[in-house]
Amino acid sequence: MELKSIKKIGVLTSGGDAPGMNAAIRAAVRAGFYYGLEMYGIYRGYEGMIQNDIKKLDSKNITHVLERGGTFLKSARSDEFRTKEGRKKAYENLKSHGIDALVVIGGDGSLTGAHLFYQEYGIPAVGLPGTIDNDLSGTDSTIGFDTACNTAIEAIDKIRDTATSHDRLFFVEVMGRDAGFIAINAGIGSAAASILIPERKTPVEALVEKLKSRTKARKTSNIVIVAEGGKSGSAQEIADKVKKHLPYYDIKVTILGHLQRGGSPTSFDRLLASKLGVAAVEGLMQGKYDVMAGLINNKLVYTPIVKAVVGDKEVDEEDLRVANILST
Ligand code: F6P
Repeated sequence: MELKSIKKIGVLTSGGDAPGMNAAIRAAVRAGFYYGLEMYGIYRGYEGMIQNDIKKLDSKNITHVLERGGTFLKSARSDEFRTKEGRKKAYENLKSHGIDALVVIGGDGSLTGAHLFYQEYGIPAVGLPGTIDNDLSGTDSTIGFDTACNTAIEAIDKIRDTATSHDRLFFVEVMGRDAGFIAINAGIGSAAASILIPERKTPVEALVEKLKSRTKARKTSNIVIVAEGGKSGSAQEIADKVKKHLPYYDIKVTILGHLQRGGSPTSFDRLLASKLGVAAVEGLMQGKYDVMAGLINNKLVYTPIVKAVVGDKEVDEEDLRVANILST
């Protein structure tokens, strides 16, 4: 592959924001400055690329952003970038600034955009896994996942207090789109009675039996974690079905929602984002194009974007086994 001499790198965040995106931007920009490159912020993801919302960054732009949730470059989901015309406009805008490579921080849709763009226009890109869902292959953890799990656990701890006071059964819905990673981590970390994830089918009857046996074991509160993309339905739908079997239970439903996307990143996410931000720029300089940088067993790995986004990341069987043992 031809090694291009890269002088100007554009950085963007796209798709759902995730805590640690700012830390990743900062790390990429700092690394760029370290290597004498010009760094550009592309605002509102691919939307900003199409609308030419692109500005040269200096060190002031990245001061005191590492610790902040969200993304100061802002984010968007761009329908126009899915079209050939949209990508053409975006390419012309990049060229007008002389930007010759990209660091794209986002989830599967955002990284797929970077891949398409590379295929069509040859703009080298390194993707960074920025999503709370942890649904990208090629990295053990995505940027924002750890913070989202901590936020969910903190919220569920509070629900636990009131659930115990009233002997109530709570169904707590967590994010994750089609993946159950947040649900599993938050469920184990908050002593959930059961964890329902899209990757496994849990019949309502099995859940009801489990709740009955926990009642016999004199558990005073029960919290069931429901991943939003689960096959058995939303937390409310499952709660309604369970109520028919256990009418004596006082059942409540809480949807944690976008709460999970905000907040200051944990030390884990700060470190991950910082390492990967540097890796993105160094990868581009070394000619690693059309790849996503990730950490597997704490080692830096560059995975072709097409492999990172296929959606085949497996949930850990061992986690499920532990969750099951601990909830009986
Ligand atoms: O991909 C991150 C995520 O927060 C998912 O967990 C969730 O399904 C989705 O984004 C929500 O998207 P939006 O903020 O566009 O409603």
